[in-house]
Amino acid sequence: MGLLTVTDTTLPNQEETVTESTEFERNQKRYQELIATFPHEKGWRPKNPLIQYGGHWLMQPRAEGCMYAQEFFQARPSDLLLCSYPKTGTTWLKALTFAIRNRSHFNDSTNPLLKRNPHELVPYIEIEFAFFPHIDVINNKENTLFATHLPHGLLPESVSRSSCKMVYIWRDPKDTFISMWIFYKKQKTQDGPLNSLEESFDMFCRGLSSNGPYLDHVLTYWKAYQENPDQIFFLKYEKMRADPLLYVKRLAEFMGYGFTAEEEKEGIVDKVVNLCSFETLKNLEPNQGEKNMENRPSSFANSAFFRKGEIGDWQNYLTREMAARIDGLMVEKLKGSGLLEW
Ligand code: A3P
Repeated sequence: MGLLTVTDTTLPNQEETVTESTEFERNQKRYQELIATFPHEKGWRPKNPLIQYGGHWLMQPRAEGCMYAQEFFQARPSDLLLCSYPKTGTTWLKALTFAIRNRSHFNDSTNPLLKRNPHELVPYIEIEFAFFPHIDVINNKENTLFATHLPHGLLPESVSRSSCKMVYIWRDPKDTFISMWIFYKKQKTQDGPLNSLEESFDMFCRGLSSNGPYLDHVLTYWKAYQENPDQIFFLKYEKMRADPLLYVKRLAEFMGYGFTAEEEKEGIVDKVVNLCSFETLKNLEPNQGEKNMENRPSSFANSAFFRKGEIGDWQNYLTREMAARIDGLMVEKLKGSGLLEW
């Protein structure tokens, strides 16, 4: 019986020992040998380098998880893959799709979202699927919701082969950066101190961030969406924040779980929107204080996923010059793509 040492940066740094040898463990050494040959760069913490893979920068455990998902994740046509760059609204999207997909199974008081953090209900293919195959949601064959922070080019082949649907959410890069830096500030890790805001910002702009470069990440999915608009649904955090009802209805329609006229009349759409709202989720017991996920260890308390949920909070942190640098990058990268006007 082998031992699996999990060193994911989202996990506590004490070593986690799983007594059963997993498929991941049997392949991990091979991934590590390959990863060792890829370019490495200094990360946002001294002991957490970034590794270049497929034109993007991944942390070591994510790169290993990615390789495992590429080899073993078998997407089914009925699956829905939630794709996002970190800190762009993933938690919200997980909650919404879970609430939409499962609304006939639960009532107002039995919805699992009331008891568990949305990340426990919708697993990442490069985290839970790879590192925690024993957890309930991975073993539940009826679950069709999966998530990923991987760029489109690094997705398992089975995703395009199965033609399963995808939803992509993105967000203003200034708010995304601030959300990310503050999130890492809250991490319990032994990887050393987090770079200063200025240094992390400079790295973010140079593409050196988890799954970065951010705008390239967005473009990989935008290109895939333009090639196959029926397979990918594009969402923007700011737009959905401004009119959640409209986008939740469209999202449900895309998922094949559109709301009936009767449901609309009964206020079911409002109920989904309210249950998944920032204010509701943030104040739920499982997302309070130092509570952690129940089904796997994490170096982030559940509460870290709910900060302010505002648009434009970057103004409290970035100088005018910093903002101009990102805005310039956005124009440079996205011009001609149609995304600036979208
Ligand atoms: P802020 O840090 O700006 O507050 P992710 O889920 O991809 O990690 O993104 C986290 C960001 O989404 C955080 O932004 C967080 O507060 C916000 N967020 C979390 N749940 C939300 C919800 N239900 N509605 C709107 N925003 C939410």
